[in-house]
Amino acid sequence: MPDLKRRLLLGAAIAAPFAALVAAKPRARSGAHSAYFRALQDALQDAGLFRPTLVIDRQRLADNIERLKAHLPANKHYRIVAKSLPSLKLIETVRAATGTDRLMVFDQPFLNFVGAQMADARVLLGKPMPAGAARRFFAQHHNAAFDAAAQIEWLIDTPQRLAEYRDLSQARRGDGLGPMRINLEIDVGLHRGGFRSAQAVAEAVREIDTVQSLEFSGFMGYEAHASKIPDVLGGPRGALARAMAFYAECIDAARAAQGARFDADALTLNAGGSSTYQLYDEAAPCNELAMGSGLVMPTDFDKPTLADHLPACFISTPVLKALDRTELPGLEAMTGLFRAWDPNTARAFYLYGGYWLADAVSPPGLQRNAIWGHSTNQDLLNGSTGVQLNVGDHVFLRPHQSEFVFLQFGDLAVYDDGRIVDAWPVFQPGA
Ligand SMILES: Cc1ncc(COP(=O)(O)O)c(C=O)c1O
Repeated sequence: MPDLKRRLLLGAAIAAPFAALVAAKPRARSGAHSAYFRALQDALQDAGLFRPTLVIDRQRLADNIERLKAHLPANKHYRIVAKSLPSLKLIETVRAATGTDRLMVFDQPFLNFVGAQMADARVLLGKPMPAGAARRFFAQHHNAAFDAAAQIEWLIDTPQRLAEYRDLSQARRGDGLGPMRINLEIDVGLHRGGFRSAQAVAEAVREIDTVQSLEFSGFMGYEAHASKIPDVLGGPRGALARAMAFYAECIDAARAAQGARFDADALTLNAGGSSTYQLYDEAAPCNELAMGSGLVMPTDFDKPTLADHLPACFISTPVLKALDRTELPGLEAMTGLFRAWDPNTARAFYLYGGYWLADAVSPPGLQRNAIWGHSTNQDLLNGSTGVQLNVGDHVFLRPHQSEFVFLQFGDLAVYDDGRIVDAWPVFQPGA
């Protein structure tokens, strides 16, 4: 090999890993709260909220509701996904703005809570409750203003569960209530269970029609998978088209099974979720769409199909300690090295609480420390010297999801026009 070529090859062999190292080396990120978060911090401090707090931005919530109303096809009703908005006041706010009385409920104690506190709601179960949970609902339900027979649709996913509900409904004979309404979960492609063929649907509808204490009330076909289907597999619209084609088949099967009794207008034909509702048009065979999370926008819903919705929920928590060094126990001697490699580890901020399912968003540039780990008591976030954050300032995080995270902070703090204007109690799972 000529000398020059050998030297070039040798040079490349040395330079390539070095270049890779330089490319991988983290750059310093920095910044301060935007005017939005500064105003939010002032509002929380004025309200005396110097502790971890879940904040709802009422104006942004209202804007998201307007987006929903603008996108909802004219011939589709809207159903509130209650688990994703787990506060009666929050649900009442959405109801008032949308005019819907339809809720999707996923939990037996929550169902009793709705039966006791929101007697004019019409409920579709979002998952099939064990028959024992349905029995417990009836045992604990005492509000005559909420007609549990007429106002609840129980979700059924298999012939076995249908048989259990038949037995339950027959055992309840004599309690003066009407038939239990049965909505069939159909598998429109998510493959999370439910009826998978038009024939199985027809058999279930025929079975329901033979039992006096049961009444067929419609279908629920959830298609959360659709928004994640890549373009090579037909994309979200292809998946939705396939889901709706099967949905239409199920409706036809019910029509054939019920004959003259079939009344499509009387049925609840539910579909949708936050990540798909904008893909629907009037031609879809369902007659209502469910969604909840998209009204508050936790990070799991940062999707192109919700690009015009705004984050409306944040966790706020005070910084208890702001240190100029990040020292890891046992690795004190490495402090300089870690910092030289990643300038974003220069400072250490210990928070009031932490380890929520959430990402820090303000001030920009905060990151977790993989070696230090997590603490629910005083969590650690690192940042460069350019991150403008001091003891007493608040850090803002966005929850990944609302249904669980909202329940961890006590009352939701409602923020509007520069002030905390209300406190909305969250649902107590133990109730
Ligand atoms: C049956 C069903 N429908 C709809 C939804 C949509 O809820 P969200 O809009 O909060 O994603 C869910 C969420 O889990 C669901 O399970």
